[in-house]
Amino acid sequence: MTPPRVLVSRHVYPAAIGVLQDAGCAIDYHDSRDGLEPEKFASRLRLADGLVCQLTDPITADLIAGAPKLRAISQIAVGYDNVDVAAATRRGIVVTNTPGVLTDATADLTLALLLATARRLPEAERFLRSGKWSRWEVDLLCGGDVHGATLGIVGFGRIGRAVAQRARGFDMRVLYASRTPAPAAVEAELQARHVPLDALLQRSDFVSLHVPLLPETRHLISVAALGRMQPHAILINTSRGPVVDERALIAALEEGLIAGAGLDVFEDEPHVPDELLALPSVVALPHIGSASTRVRSRMCAIAARDCAAILTGNRPEHPVNRETLP
Ligand code: DGY
Repeated sequence: MTPPRVLVSRHVYPAAIGVLQDAGCAIDYHDSRDGLEPEKFASRLRLADGLVCQLTDPITADLIAGAPKLRAISQIAVGYDNVDVAAATRRGIVVTNTPGVLTDATADLTLALLLATARRLPEAERFLRSGKWSRWEVDLLCGGDVHGATLGIVGFGRIGRAVAQRARGFDMRVLYASRTPAPAAVEAELQARHVPLDALLQRSDFVSLHVPLLPETRHLISVAALGRMQPHAILINTSRGPVVDERALIAALEEGLIAGAGLDVFEDEPHVPDELLALPSVVALPHIGSASTRVRSRMCAIAARDCAAILTGNRPEHPVNRETLP
């Protein structure tokens, strides 16, 4: 029997390749940090039964249409807005992602970014390294308090809840906005209160975003939403860039409508607008929310395992379009 062929679209941790080898797959590995040119991607995918891809690979309806044998698309990330899931589903192709494993790492990074932005850590470090530090001063590089502040969490799934759990350690008051309220036991355990988004924006000292990118969450943080926030408030985004209207955010920061932003994600990655970088009140990171070595390696292995499972007639652990499964 011909072994199933899997295209691995970019450089991955070796664990992924090991999993595919052990499952008896034939591997077409594009071992490069640069993605494949669209035509090359299409011609290699044409021969593939499975694909292990990353959030930097646009998996469009056209690409899927040109891959007649494709049965599995396994994304190495929890977010999969780069994959046309509807097109895959129409063809019966199973799409998988890697939830769970990255929850704690992403929540850790969210708190790190919140602390760094509130307490001006990158600015302070730049100040010291540039040789400007000459003495202790009573008002040198003072920032805002994190302990005791109100944190508004937008989206209360796994990551939002893990952020709430960490916020308790800082004695923060936690509000959250989500389509459906969490069970009362979860609210009690995390001491979190469900409120409408507008109330959350008005009352929070920090607003942290944890929603997936969907048509209804694109530019959720709009001119109007930013206008509802308090002038001393800080926006934290470790979800997806387009959840925030970046032009509106720049204007809000420049006009002092809000005090700062901690951003791990951007609308048009890896492009970061110069206006954001020019603002000392902005802490900007290159999409490293889940970037611990252990977590990223496990994400690679999980995606490969699900891809191999589908191609060998087994049930994947993390399907996102369950309707494609028997
Ligand atoms: C994801 O998983 O969606 C993150 O953005 C990368 O870990």
